[in-house]
Order: sequence, then structure tokens, then C-alpha cells
Amino acid sequence: MTGADYSRYARELEEKIRSRKAQVGVVGLGYVGLPLAVEFAKAGFSVTGIETDPQKAARVNAGESYVLDVPREELARLVEQGRLRATTDYSCLAGLDTVNICVPTPLRKTKDPDMSYIDAACRQIARYLHPGMLVILESTTYPGTTDEFVLPMLERDELRVGREFFLCFSPERVDPGNRQYQTRNIPKVVGGITPVCTELGALFYSQALEKVVPVSSTRVAEMVKLLENTFRMINIGLVNEMALMCDRMGIDVWEVIDAAATKPFGFMPFYPGPGLGGHCIPIDPFYLSWKTKQAGIEARFIELAGYINGQMPLFVVEKIQNALNDRCKPVRGSHIHIVGVAYKRDIDDVRESPALDIMHLLKRRGARLSYSDPYVPRLVVDGEEMSSEDLDEMAARADCVVIVTDHSGVDYRRLVEQAQLVVDTRNATRGIRSEKIVKL
Ligand SMILES: NC(=O)c1ccc[n+]([C@@H]2O[C@H](COP(=O)([O-])OP(=O)(O)OC[C@H]3O[C@@H](n4cnc5c(N)ncnc54)[C@H](O)[C@@H]3O)[C@@H](O)[C@H]2O)c1
Repeated sequence: MTGADYSRYARELEEKIRSRKAQVGVVGLGYVGLPLAVEFAKAGFSVTGIETDPQKAARVNAGESYVLDVPREELARLVEQGRLRATTDYSCLAGLDTVNICVPTPLRKTKDPDMSYIDAACRQIARYLHPGMLVILESTTYPGTTDEFVLPMLERDELRVGREFFLCFSPERVDPGNRQYQTRNIPKVVGGITPVCTELGALFYSQALEKVVPVSSTRVAEMVKLLENTFRMINIGLVNEMALMCDRMGIDVWEVIDAAATKPFGFMPFYPGPGLGGHCIPIDPFYLSWKTKQAGIEARFIELAGYINGQMPLFVVEKIQNALNDRCKPVRGSHIHIVGVAYKRDIDDVRESPALDIMHLLKRRGARLSYSDPYVPRLVVDGEEMSSEDLDEMAARADCVVIVTDHSGVDYRRLVEQAQLVVDTRNATRGIRSEKIVKL
């Protein structure tokens, strides 16, 4: 520690963090919060999760994991050892030294940020804020949230930031389903309101995570996350547009990308698909464009990529329609079986999944639908509840099988053998030669 301008409370907190006696709190035990809580519990801290959903809190306390990346045995062991517990009661904050906020940040229908979850969490934290407390916002949000929105809710005369309490932003970069990079080994960027806040935030994370990257402010830390996700969104938009162009010109876009990716510098492969999904890539860049609009700058790349990516489900539906027409079958009345409805491979999350848009559009055109997904046993499409069906049985029966999500456990060769027609939006049938396959 630099020692520069370190208050008594900063020193006491530093000591508690170093000795792992700090009582750690995590607000919001979802895809981000639960793995984080588990990492700190594994590092020897006593961790309390605060979760508004009583069922989730009860499941954690029963040692039951509902997040794929958190193994059940690990969670159960930590709960049994008394290192991790969950509650719906915010009053426990009075006894906690640190609190990480991991609540949702969706968009409103108008594509404006929905700050209601951060607002609700911060109102509760403000009630129990006490000297020596470290508060870290992890939810993805627009640059300026921590200093313009959160700080005024927390700071008062007797509780000054950098002196009595400490406030940071640290973007969460978790990639659900990624077996190589998980919460522990993804470098953690952290920026504080003051240098002391940054130092304490960095010290805190370094106890449980492998690498910490301190930055000079909360705004830099907020912008880092938006740059990362905007980079992905725009590159996916570019490659989706390439796919549309290649389709018109009769060129295999997948072969193009594979060959381009042999260039050892200056190129990074992105792949086209049925549309963006999940909680991050389709949403986060709009937090940035909303904010920059206020500063008089139109985020044109974001709007354009958003438009192209948003067209992909319709493009897929047209592909299906054309493929069926070529076989003299109209979409209306045809049985179309969707393979994979999660928004990406090997996860159980259907938020913003393009499968939902595709199924909605096909239903409107009069198709009969079924789906199979080993991770998603039930799904509601246009208010109708559906159950995952046996893939072998449906592949043989359906007029067309559409691969929307390329889960790794599926035998695609067998699928092609059984099916009459396969529309593949992910190149899951790479290497399989068949007249039955129609690719994006
Ligand atoms: N899921 C990802 O892959 C991912 C990756 C990086 C960043 N993020 C960001 O992290 C944040 C959280 O995302 P998530 O995927 O974990 O969401 P999630 O919906 O899985 O989890 C959020 C949890 O917070 C709880 N909650 C809501 N309001 C609360 C409150 N006031 N107090 C306590 N608990 C409350 C919800 O019940 C839910 O369990 C979002 O800002 C998201 O953009 C998500």
C-alpha cells in the first residue's frame, strides 16, 4: 500500500482483507454473483449473499447450485463449512465489511438503461453503510454510473468516500459455459473513486482472483467493459453482414472465415449466427449509446451493428422458408424442429436468445414447432409452454430441423442422417457432406 492519505478506516479494512477476516457480502446471486461469492468463500472469507429471490437464497443454503459454472459439491461444501450463506434480509449489511453489487442491468423497451435494480440495491446499502465499508459495483452500466448515480446515494457528511467508506467499479467479465476462463482466472479490472478506493478494491480482489488490473477511475473501469462488449457486437455485426453478402453471391462464408483466420496477425475470427443473445452483447452497447447521445455523439457503429444483428432471425426464417419451398413444402403446416434454444453453446440461459425470435416468426407463418435442448427442459414461446423433445424421434419426423444453438453433446452426423432437411445456422455440421444441409 502507498500509505498516502490512508485514513484509520482504510488501514483497518486493509488489515481485515489481508488477514481474510473481512466479512464479505455479494448482492444478487445470479450468473455473476454466485460464482464470485464462491471464489471468496474458497479463499477463506466468510461470505453472505443477499438475494431478493427467496427460492434462490433457500437453494444456496441447501447447497444446491442453479448456476452451471458452480459445481454443486463445491457449493454444498462451502455452505456446510459455514463459509457461505444466503439471505433475503439486507440488515446483515450492518456487519459486513465489503459488498459487491451484481444485480441485473437490462434495457427498457425504449433501449434506455433500466437502473431500477442498482437503485434498489444502493438504497438498501445506504441504510446500512458504515465506516470502513468497501462497496464495489460490478453490474455492467454506462460510464459515470458509479460517481454520478451511486456515490450521491451513499455519501454524506459523516461518511466521506475515500475516508470513511470506499467505492469502486469492477466490470464482470464472466463467460458462462467457458471451461478455460472462469471468475478466478479472468483478470479483474478495478477503478475507485479515489486512489485509496482503487488500492483497497485491488487488494480485495487479489485475495481470491489470479490477476487484478487497477485503473485510474471508475469511469475508465466502466468504459473497459463497454469497449469489450461493443467490440464483440460490432465484429459480429460485420461478419453477419458478410454472411448476407456471401449468401447473395453463393460463397461459403464459413470457408472464407477459416481461411482468413490463417493469417497470423491482424485478423481475429468472428462467426455469423442466428442473431445475438444473452444478457450482455445485445444490451450493453446500448448503455454506451444512450450515454453518448447525452453528450451529443451518435454511436453509429453500435446502431448499425444492432440493426444488422437484429435482422438475422428473419434471415434465418427466410432461409428455412426457401429450403422448404425448394422441396415443394410451404412453411405453413410444416413441422419444424429447433435444435438448441439457449443463447449459446453448452449453457442453460435463454435470455434474449435468437431461438425465441425465430420460433415466434415461424409460428406466425403457421409452422408446427417442437424443440430439443439438453439444458432447457421447458420454454415459453408466445405464451405457450413447450417441453424439450427427444431429438432422435423428432429429427426423423420433422420436415425441417434447424440448428440454432450448437451444443457440444449433440451427434450432428447422426442428426443429418436422420433428418430430411437441416438448416444449420452455426456451422455445427462442419465436415459433413450432404445435400440435406443448408447453411447460413
Ligand atoms: N451473465 C453474464 O454472462 C454476465 C457477464 C458479465 C457481466 N454481467 C452483468 O452482471 C450483472 C448481473 O448479471 P447476471 O447475469 O448475474 O444476472 P442474474 O439475473 O443472473 O442475477 C442477478 C440476481 O440479482 C437478484 N437481484 C435483483 N435485484 C436485487 C436486489 N435489489 N437485491 C438483491 N438481489 C437482487 C436477482 O434475483 C438475480 O438472482 C448485469 O449487469 C450483467 O449485465 C453478466
